[in-house]
Amino acid sequence: MPWSITIQQAPPRPEAIIWEELPFGRIFSQHMAVAEYKDGKWQEARVQPFEPLSLSPGTSALHYGQALFEGFKAYQRPDGFRFVFRPKDHWQRLNHSAHRLSMPEVPYELFISLLHHLLLQEVALFPPNLQHAIYIRPVYFATDPWLGVRPSETYMLVIYLTPVGPYYKDTIKAYVETELSRAASGGTGTAKMAGNYAAALLSGRKAQAKGCQVSLWLDAFQHEYVEEFSTMNVFFVQRDSTLITPSLERGTILQGITRDTILYLAYERGLSVEERDISIHEVIENITHGRITEIFGTGTAATIMPIQSLFYEDKVWELPPHTPIAQMLLTDYKAILQGDLKGNPEWIWPV
Ligand code: COI
Repeated sequence: MPWSITIQQAPPRPEAIIWEELPFGRIFSQHMAVAEYKDGKWQEARVQPFEPLSLSPGTSALHYGQALFEGFKAYQRPDGFRFVFRPKDHWQRLNHSAHRLSMPEVPYELFISLLHHLLLQEVALFPPNLQHAIYIRPVYFATDPWLGVRPSETYMLVIYLTPVGPYYKDTIKAYVETELSRAASGGTGTAKMAGNYAAALLSGRKAQAKGCQVSLWLDAFQHEYVEEFSTMNVFFVQRDSTLITPSLERGTILQGITRDTILYLAYERGLSVEERDISIHEVIENITHGRITEIFGTGTAATIMPIQSLFYEDKVWELPPHTPIAQMLLTDYKAILQGDLKGNPEWIWPV
C-alpha cells in the first residue's frame, strides 16, 4: 500500500548541471524527502524543498552515533526509460544497519513511496547517459534531544539526491592498513553506519600521505586477513581467472550490493568464485609470482575500480596494467543497466 506523502514543490534549479565536470556529492537535489518517527510509529511523510535541518545540540545522533546511511543509483537509458537499481536490496541493508543500531525498521512502502515521489519531483536531474547517475542518499538518525545513553525515541529519515559521474577518475592505489582496525567480529562492521566512516578517516590520511586513494583494511584481531577497502569491497583475480573475495561470514565487512551483482555476473560468466579468508601474505606472495593478476574494488559510488598498486609495509606492489576480468565484469554490469543483459528482473525498478 503506498504511503501518504505530502508534496511541497521547490523552485526549479537556477543553473544547468554540467555533467562532464561534476564533483561527487557537492550538488544536491532541489527537493528532499523526510519522514519522522515518534510516539512509536512513523508519522506522515513529506517531499519538500531541500533545506538545512534545525536540530538541538543535544541531538542524540551527534553524541552517541545512532546514524546510518545508504547509497544507490537511478539512471536514464537513451530511450528515456528511468529506473532505480536494486532499491529493495538497499532498503533491506538499511534495516540491517538500523537493527544493529537499535533503530526502528523503516517500512518498505514508506521508503519506496518517499523515493518515488522524490524522483518524480526531480525528473530534471536524470542524466543524459549511463555514464552518469543520480546518487540517492538516505540518511537515518536519532533526534532525541536528551543525553541519556539509550536508544532514541525519535528519528528522522531524509532522502536526497546528488547527480554524479565516476567516483574515481583513474585507477587507484591502495594503502594496506596494518595498525588501525575497522571492525571486529560482533561489532558494527556490517552496518552502514556513520561511525564506521569516521573511524576510517585517520587511515585515509595515512593513505594519502603515501600517495594512495584508499585504505585496504585487514582483520582487527591479527591484521592478517583482508577485509575491504575504505570505500569498496575487494576482489582478487587469479591468473586462471578465479575470483577471490572475503566472505561475509566473519560478520565484519559491508554486504555490498555491487559485490553481490558482481558475484552474480561472475557466475553467469562461468568464472570460479571463492568467498573465503585471504591473508595479506597470500596476496603479496601471489602478486610477486604473477598469480594474482588483478585487484579491483566494488561499490555503488565507484562501481568497479581496478587497483594499480598496493602499498604494504613501506613497499609498493604493482599490479599489471591490463585488467581484462574487471573490464569484462564492468561491461556486463553496464549491459544490465542498458537493458542488454538480463540480471534479476527485480533489480530494475522503473520510476
Ligand atoms: C557508496 O559506494 O555508495 C558509498 O556509500 C561509499 C562512499 C565512499 C560514497
